[in-house]
This record gives sequence, structure tokens and C-alpha cells, in this order.
Amino acid sequence: MVYYIRFLKTPRFQPQKKAVFISALICITTDLGDDFLAEDVDLVATWAQYPSHKALYRESLKWEAGTRQLAVLLGPFSPNDVAHKTSVLNIQLQASQKDTLGVSSTPLVISGCSAPFGPQSEPAEKLILRDLYVANHKQPLKIWEETGNSIARHIWDAALASIVFLDQTIQGTSKDMPALSQLLQTRRSSPLQAVELGAGCGIVGIALATMLDHCDVLLTDLPEVEEIVTLNIKEARPQPSSLVHYQTLDWEEPPPNLCSRPIDLILVSDCTYNADSLPILVSVLDRLVRTSPEALVLVALKRRHESEAVFFDLMRAAAFAPLQAKVQLPAQHDEVDQIELYCYHRQA
Ligand SMILES: C[S@@+](CC[C@H](N)C(=O)[O-])C[C@H]1O[C@@H](n2cnc3c(N)ncnc32)[C@H](O)[C@@H]1O
Repeated sequence: MVYYIRFLKTPRFQPQKKAVFISALICITTDLGDDFLAEDVDLVATWAQYPSHKALYRESLKWEAGTRQLAVLLGPFSPNDVAHKTSVLNIQLQASQKDTLGVSSTPLVISGCSAPFGPQSEPAEKLILRDLYVANHKQPLKIWEETGNSIARHIWDAALASIVFLDQTIQGTSKDMPALSQLLQTRRSSPLQAVELGAGCGIVGIALATMLDHCDVLLTDLPEVEEIVTLNIKEARPQPSSLVHYQTLDWEEPPPNLCSRPIDLILVSDCTYNADSLPILVSVLDRLVRTSPEALVLVALKRRHESEAVFFDLMRAAAFAPLQAKVQLPAQHDEVDQIELYCYHRQA
């Protein structure tokens, strides 16, 4: 299980007598926010100028096993030092850490950087930016998440595993799913059409368009993600011949004309945690594949409870046949966590 640095209170300048401090409150928690890192780790807090991200000051912090939050207080600084400085606060394991997503490189703790905060004492917006590097790409994926506990506006572990697996498949280092390899490696005369269901922050679809030439990715989810996904689409650097866009799609109320063009690939990451919504999710997949019978469906999931198993029964009943692969993510105390990936196609 990967752990994510989150702001419980976003940073701000805090005047105290004749000095100014930078204060924030952080935790190191799971995607679900239900558990905290139970290992001691050293962290580095960097106050940096915005937008250049030039470091202005660094301080070491210690997260101790058993804690649920850590107060950050940097300073004192003289009021002149902070005047006119729009800043960000970056929290990472080491000052030079790059969070690289890969089979053996995905870090146990994912770093985060705040939204900008001004020289007045108002706190930064309740957001955190992840810079995630994918092997072979110099520019990081820049993904904003909300700092609160919303299910939709966060990155989930299965998304990280999906990106590792898509990268391996595009590079040809994983051959676990031959039909997916063929789809992603074949030179195309028309763009590959991908749709992501329950895209959340949009990280998986944005990563696909960043890694793959000549693809057109439609991210979909409930209206509540529109703001964060739009922000992430603005930050995205897709391949010059690829596109990413967003459209609301509630599985409960799919429009009659669900997709106007044939789809090649449907992405579904960590959307099977709620057994009650599985019938409508599978029904949307079924409808999409009726109009695009050749489409592949890549599902990534982390098993959380037994009730999720009904997903496999529903997919079987809808005549979907799977191939399975696994991606390991780091877990605390040098253990590993398995994320399952399934590539489905509609049986003839
Ligand atoms: C656990 S999050 C996963 C987000 C993202 N795919 C990831 O892996 O980071 C599940 C997503 O499914 C979406 N979802 C749940 N019910 C939905 C519905 N009825 N229609 C559309 N999306 C839904 C949620 O809004 C949420 O973004």
C-alpha cells in the first residue's frame, strides 16, 4: 500500500511578534485515508518561490510511527523576507526525490507540493500537486488532488499500477496481455480512441495520452470531479498527436447515445470498491462494447472486501472474457501490495 503526503491544513504565512513562520499540518496516509504510515521516516520541507519553484529554505522533519499528523513550522523569517513572495511548500522524503512510477521504482511515500500561498496570511487552496515521473519521460505528470477526503478527487493506488502496466505494455516489457500490446504498439492511421470511466483526477487517461502517440482520451466521471479534472487537463502535456478531454458520465444515467464513435480501449481504475454500483458499471461497459465490439477493457483493482467479487460474475454474465496480470506496489515494512489488472474483451 502506497502512502501519500497530504495537507490537513494547507500552508500559510503566520506572523508571530516581529517574525513570520510558515505553518501547515500534514499526514501520511493511504488512498482511502483510513490508515497512517506506521514507520519512522525523515522528510524535507522546502519553501520555494512560485512559479519558479526555486528553493528559498529547507528544513528536516520527522514522521514517527504511530502518529496521525505532523505540525510543520518553518522559520522564523523576517517580514521583509516574505514580503511580495508568492510561495509553495513541498514535502518529500529527500530534497532530490523524484517520484518515479515503475516496477521497482514506485516510492512507498508519494511527495506533494502545495498550491501557491501569498504574503498575506491566507492559507493555500486545499489542493496538493503530485509530480509523478513515468520511465522514459523527462516531464512529470502533474496531477492535482484535493486535500480533503473525497473519494473522487484523489489518486488511488490502482491508478499508479495502471500507469506502470500501460507503460510496460507500450514499451513491450510486459507481454501479459497480447491483445493490449498489439493495440498499444501498432502504428495507427487514425487515433486510438480511449474512454476512462470513473476517472477521478484523470491520472490514468492523462498518463496514457502522455505516453502514447496518436490517441484521443475521453475522461468521464460524476460532475463533482469536473473542476479538478479540468485543472489536470490544463497541466497535462500529452504527446503532440494525442488529446485528452472530459465529459460527465454518471453510470446511473448514461445518455441514450453513450458514445458517438467507435472505442478501442476503456480504462477502469479502482471503480469496483462499491458492490452496489457494480451492476450499473458493468451495464455501461456492456453498452459501450455493444457499439464497439472490438474494444478492450482494462480494469485495475485493489481488493478491499469480498463483496467486490460479484464484479467478476457480472462481467462473465455479460460475456466478457479476461486475461489477468499483477503489478506490485511497495507497502510498509518492506512488504509489497498486489494490484490486479484484467484485460477484458467481448466473447464472440
Ligand atoms: C476510487 S475512485 C477512482 C478514481 C480514479 N479512477 C483512480 O484510480 O485514481 C472511483 C471513481 O468512480 C467514480 N464513480 C463512482 N460512482 C460513479 C457513477 N455512478 N458514475 C460515474 N462515476 C462514478 C467516482 O466519482 C470516483 O472518481
